[in-house]
Parts: sequence; C-alpha cells; structure tokens
Amino acid sequence: MAEQIPTIGIIGLGVMGYNLALNMQTSGLNVIGYSISEAERNQARGGTEPLRVVDSLETLIATLPEQKILFVMITAGAPVDELLGQLLPCLSSSDMVIDGGNSNYLDTQRRVARCAELGVVFLGVGISGGEEGARHGASVMVGGDKKHFDRVEAVFDAIACRVGDEACYGWMGSSSAGHFVKMVHNGIEYAVMQLLAETYDLCRRGLGLNITETRDWFAKQQGGPLDSYLLDITVDILKKQDDLTSGLLIEQVSDIAGQKGTGRWCVDAAMTLGVPAPAIIAAVTERQISGSAQTRQTLAQVSGRRSKAYEWDTWQEDLADGLYAGMLVTFAQGLSLIRQASQEYNWGTDLRAAIRLWRGGCIIRAALLETLLSLGETINEQETVLLVPAFSQEIFRRAGPWARVVNAGVLNDLPVPVYAINLAYLNSMSSERLPTQLIQAQRDYFGAHTFKRLDRDGVFHADWQE
Ligand code: 6PG
Repeated sequence: MAEQIPTIGIIGLGVMGYNLALNMQTSGLNVIGYSISEAERNQARGGTEPLRVVDSLETLIATLPEQKILFVMITAGAPVDELLGQLLPCLSSSDMVIDGGNSNYLDTQRRVARCAELGVVFLGVGISGGEEGARHGASVMVGGDKKHFDRVEAVFDAIACRVGDEACYGWMGSSSAGHFVKMVHNGIEYAVMQLLAETYDLCRRGLGLNITETRDWFAKQQGGPLDSYLLDITVDILKKQDDLTSGLLIEQVSDIAGQKGTGRWCVDAAMTLGVPAPAIIAAVTERQISGSAQTRQTLAQVSGRRSKAYEWDTWQEDLADGLYAGMLVTFAQGLSLIRQASQEYNWGTDLRAAIRLWRGGCIIRAALLETLLSLGETINEQETVLLVPAFSQEIFRRAGPWARVVNAGVLNDLPVPVYAINLAYLNSMSSERLPTQLIQAQRDYFGAHTFKRLDRDGVFHADWQE
C-alpha cells in the first residue's frame, strides 16, 4: 500500500508529531516535517533517525507533489484555524489536510465545511496512545469523506498498532466522526480511571489495606476479565518507589486531578444529544471536586465523620464483579453516545469498527472489548448495548456484588460516584415504572404542563389542589 502514497508533509514536530513522523518513515512512507519551533526542527533533523525537515511552510508546500497530503499535529483549538488560514490560499482542489490533534468535533465539523468550499479535503483523525503509541503503533479513529479515507488508508495503516493481524485504525464515519469517537474514548477513559481510583480508595480507606495489599488485589485481576491497559498501569504505579523519600511515590502525589477538556466536551455532547452518560459526568465532576482542596479540607474537619475499616468478607470477589460491571456499563454509555451522534449527523458510524480499533494502542484497550465484539452486528441496531441479552446478563448477574461495593463506600463515608451512578443508571434503565410519574404531576401542578395517562390516550391537566 505504501508505494501509492506520495510524500507526506507533517506540520508540528512536538512529541506526537515527531513520533508519528518517525513511525511513518519506519513504515516506508516518505515524510517531510516542518515545525514553527526551530528547536523542534533541529531535534527532528539531528535525532538518531533523522527526518527530512524544512524551515518554512512555504517550502513545505512547494516541495510536496500534486494532491498534497498535510498531516497536522499541532495544539488543538485556535492554532489549527490560524494554520488553515495560512494553508488554504496555497492549496488546490484535492489537496488534503489531516488534523491528527485532539480537536473538538464541533471545530472539525466547521473546518470540513470551510475546506470543502475550496475543494480541499479535511480529515479529522483522533489518535490515542501517547508518545509510545505515536512511535510504535497507535489507535487511529478517522473521520471524513470515505473515498478520501480510502485514498490515504495506507498512512493510517502505517501508524496503527497491531492486534494479531488487525491494524487498529478505521473509518468512524463522515465529517467529524473521528474526533467524536476519540472524544468519547477520552470520556470512557475518565470514567474507567475514576472507577479504578474508587476501587483503590475502597481498599485503602475502606478495608484498611496497605498499598502492597491493594496492589496485590489489582495484580490478581491481570489476565482476567478486567485485563486492561489502565489496570496494568495502576499495578505499576502502586509499585513505584519514591526517589525523594523512603516510601512509595503514590503517597506523595497530590490528589488535584488535571484535565485538558475532552472529558467536559464529552459531557457537553451527551447533554446536547440527550444521551445519558452519567459515568462520564461523574468522573469529570470528581476531577472538579478534587480541585477544591481547601474546601475539602475545611469540610473534612466539620463533617465529624471518620472513614473506618469495614467488615466485608466478600470484598475480593465483590470488587472484581462490581468493577467489571461498572466498566461494561461505562462502555455501553459511550457507545450509545456515538450511535446517537452518528444518527443525528448522518455519519454512518459502525460501532464495531470503533470497538475493534480500541483493542490496541489506545488508553482504554481492555479484554472486555472482545466481549463487546462477540455480540455481533446487533449492537449497532439498539439504543443501548444493554438490550443485547448476552451483554446485560454479564451485568445483571453482578448486580448483587456491585451493590455491596456501593454499600461499602456509602457506609464508610467514601466517595464512590461512578460505582454509584452507574448502578443507579442500571436500575433506572431496567425499571418498568419510574417515579418520574410524580415529576409529571408536579409539573402539571405548578405550571399546567399537562400529563399523559396510563389508562387512556390524550393530554390531561388536573386541578391538583382539589
Ligand atoms: C490518549 C489520551 C490522551 C490524553 C488525554 C487526557 O488517548 O492518548 O486520551 O489524549 O491522555 O488528553 O487528558 P486529560 O486527562 O488531561 O484531560
């Protein structure tokens, strides 16, 4: 495939751009790099695997052959629009700009339209896997016109991670579908990380285990249903000795969690599209709460509550079951969100294509993705994958242990937001009758908003004070 691809221009030689360029070069593609930063240009020229680098955007454009391919790896947001402002006057019809950054899908939608006016092709590509993935194989979520994806498929094949014989790249749908799927990937990433953090807390403050005992529990799950990249890194983290003190490094790490915005975008999208994604909302919220360190400290002193070692004989099995069920429900919410967006925007996304490429190279790679794949085509047809019996049975049979996990957290004064909200979500989603019945009556009481009846058709209003 590689011979068919003309020389590619890579704009942006930071950690991700530089490593992707090296990855492409190693895979047999011809690349020429350019960065606005002289230091990055020099580093790329002088590395152990030198890249061909030019000193200006004009030279880059002039050097590339017809049907130019420009792979953009710069900071998401305004810099991408500024770069397009410089590029577009120099490009012709059928030239292609590929944005491989963590761009907001709404920006990508706008850029696709802006480029289309000039006949320039714009592909929005979500890339997961950090520096290691960029250099040795990433998970690549491509959005845009399918025929143009086909035209440069070899580029994505070259940079993708392999799982067996399969390369972890794929067409996620037209327009901004690639960046949308990457955003949902990050939302799931937030929620699974939060579930692991809650599990850590239940072990440490709830059960009174030390870090080594906690790590041993996590390590025992490796190779089982919970097997995943995020589990693996958790085990590594809980081993790491501190260079500056005699203890483990994790004990010295501040609990204020950062976020660059993709989780919040995912919450915004879920709200806009009307898809319940409580795990992602709770995970983002918890990072926000972590930032209120002073408030937490003050309230901890006045709360009068004490976390205490909790009697919980079946904790080992309960945590394994609860965590697995919580992860499945999180993925189910993310998939529903992608499905709804695809319907709303007419992207033609195949959920199985996303699941397939998430199996390697990306942060949320996990054994449970095989379970999702084994469910077949049917997952594309349902509002939620929970409606696939083989999937929901995996969850419902763990509901008891999962409830004990939430119970342990609550009775122990420990925050378990994602465990708890996902269980509430499951209970709501599987309730034939919800108390929203009362909400409808209240709305009608104070606002004459009307209600429907269960026993007859029509719209009703009552004088509730009678
Ligand atoms: C990936 C990651 C990557 C990054 C996120 C998370 O797929 O390689 O998701 O994109 O880790 O930007 O960042 P925050 O936690 O800072 O929001």
